[in-house]
Amino acid sequence: FKVPSPKNEPIFSYAPNTAERTALKAEIEAMRSSVADVPMYIGSEEVRTGNKQPLICPHDHQHILGYYHEGDASHVHKAIEASLKARENWANLSWEHRLSIFLKAADLSATKYRMKLNAATMLGQSKNAYQAEIDSACEWVDFLRFNVNFATQIYTQQPESSEFVWNRVEQRPLEGFVFALTPFNFTAIAGNLPAAPAMMGNVVVWKPAPQQIYAANVLMQVLKEAGLPDGVINLIYTDGPLAGEVIFKHKDFTGIHFTGSTKVFQTIWRTIGENIHMYKSYPRIVGETGGKDFVIAHQSANPKAVATALVRGAFEYQGQKCSAASRAYIPKSIWDETAAYIKADLQEIKMGGTEDFSNFINAVIDERAFDKIATYITNAKNSDKVTIFAGGNVDKSKGYFVEPTIILTTDPYYTTMCEEIFGPVLTIYIYEDDKFEETLDIVDNTSPYALTGAVLSQDRYAIELASKKLVNSAGNFYINDKPTGAVVGQQPFGGARASGTNDKAGSMLNLLRWVSTRTIKENF
Ligand code: NAD
Ligand code: ALA
Repeated sequence: FKVPSPKNEPIFSYAPNTAERTALKAEIEAMRSSVADVPMYIGSEEVRTGNKQPLICPHDHQHILGYYHEGDASHVHKAIEASLKARENWANLSWEHRLSIFLKAADLSATKYRMKLNAATMLGQSKNAYQAEIDSACEWVDFLRFNVNFATQIYTQQPESSEFVWNRVEQRPLEGFVFALTPFNFTAIAGNLPAAPAMMGNVVVWKPAPQQIYAANVLMQVLKEAGLPDGVINLIYTDGPLAGEVIFKHKDFTGIHFTGSTKVFQTIWRTIGENIHMYKSYPRIVGETGGKDFVIAHQSANPKAVATALVRGAFEYQGQKCSAASRAYIPKSIWDETAAYIKADLQEIKMGGTEDFSNFINAVIDERAFDKIATYITNAKNSDKVTIFAGGNVDKSKGYFVEPTIILTTDPYYTTMCEEIFGPVLTIYIYEDDKFEETLDIVDNTSPYALTGAVLSQDRYAIELASKKLVNSAGNFYINDKPTGAVVGQQPFGGARASGTNDKAGSMLNLLRWVSTRTIKENF
């Protein structure tokens, strides 16, 4: 059986005077000069409740991109009913035909919808053109194409048989509906969480984070145009707990595909546990959650490489990647040189709206995030345990802007070394060169999370030591690199401990969570 072999979608540069930049700018302009009216998608219907909520541009918060129609509990019920109605036909459609729809969605996203997806992510989530491109174009397309490839392998693998016994496995969809609950920070994740279970024949109720609805609406248009039958994925906009209240009490609830904060995931897990007697099957619980991602440099590391890993790792997308570096451990002997490179890099960085392609830093997602980040910075300014090495200014008069901020601490357990801030704030602890091994223990013990981490070193013994001591500290571990930017098909992504169930997004492991295998033995 010939399995289609996917390639990573090439990244457009959007350099000045390119056709792609002109096209993206035109799309941004078109979106900025219109007011979108965004319905929910339930079964065959576009549902407009009249309860309109604004879609706000984070770097220009007086600019309303449009309105979405908020639903209530009745819409959650309707979405579940629509999904169950679609289930039989969808589950019985042969997998080749199912998967074809997602390959077509990949093609549409890479071509006709590429600029729309990027512009919506740039305006709705305040990502610069490059960050939008690697998310809503490349990573989303890669999720689709690689998952189709993994699914094909899953459907074609069969156990050993003999001339007297025929063994076979059937990969059936789960019995019920899957709930996809998605975070604000990646359009690709928003699309993948409903798409992955749907590929495996499941029907889905999808609730995105409110800050992401603008881009989610474009994803849904892509899936519909690709031929996804009505009711297979139902997109609703309600308050999270309200959706949960209906969904987690439904007997046909069969799994959750979640990405978001650890706190919300733990609340959901408890609720599912309390309701476990109500369900037909044990629900699949798949969640990627928070992080407190680290960079540790060894004295043999190249200071320029360390500075780059820190500046890019901590500040791309305003530190709002789950993988963003937010705590660093630098040996004393290379600190001064590293610090000089960091200062030089920061001087090059411009902050502002995404419409100006030269801005590296844009706004954080909303006022709540801004206030939370600003409080950490104010507390640091008032603490005698730390100093502000760079940044520290915040301004929400036009958009939610937080300057890239670096805190230096003499206490490796200072609050900002331990807690997930989810903004452009990096805390650095400088350690004595001969304390590398002890510092690795601190790295491992400081936070309950284990999402991403990086070690920078030219000394192979130091790399091996870090690799062994930090074996459970990060689901994605980088050597001589920043801890962000995992690519589908190359670095399967996911965290352990309080960072998630580690079912690796965009992998065969993840897709296997969305099937229920029937093993058949037949004697002759
Ligand atoms: P969040 O937890 O606030 O929200 C996630 C989703 O859950 C949203 O759709 C939200 O509306 C919904 N929700 C919130 N409370 C709920 C409740 N009580 N019941 C049901 N639904 C509820 O997360 P966020 O702020 O959108 O995203 C940022 C978080 O996501 C960070 O912690 C980040 O580390 C994490 N994240 C992790 C990964 C990963 O791969 N590990 C990737 C991206 C983001
Ligand atoms: N793929 C994203 C990263 O690794 C989550 O930063």
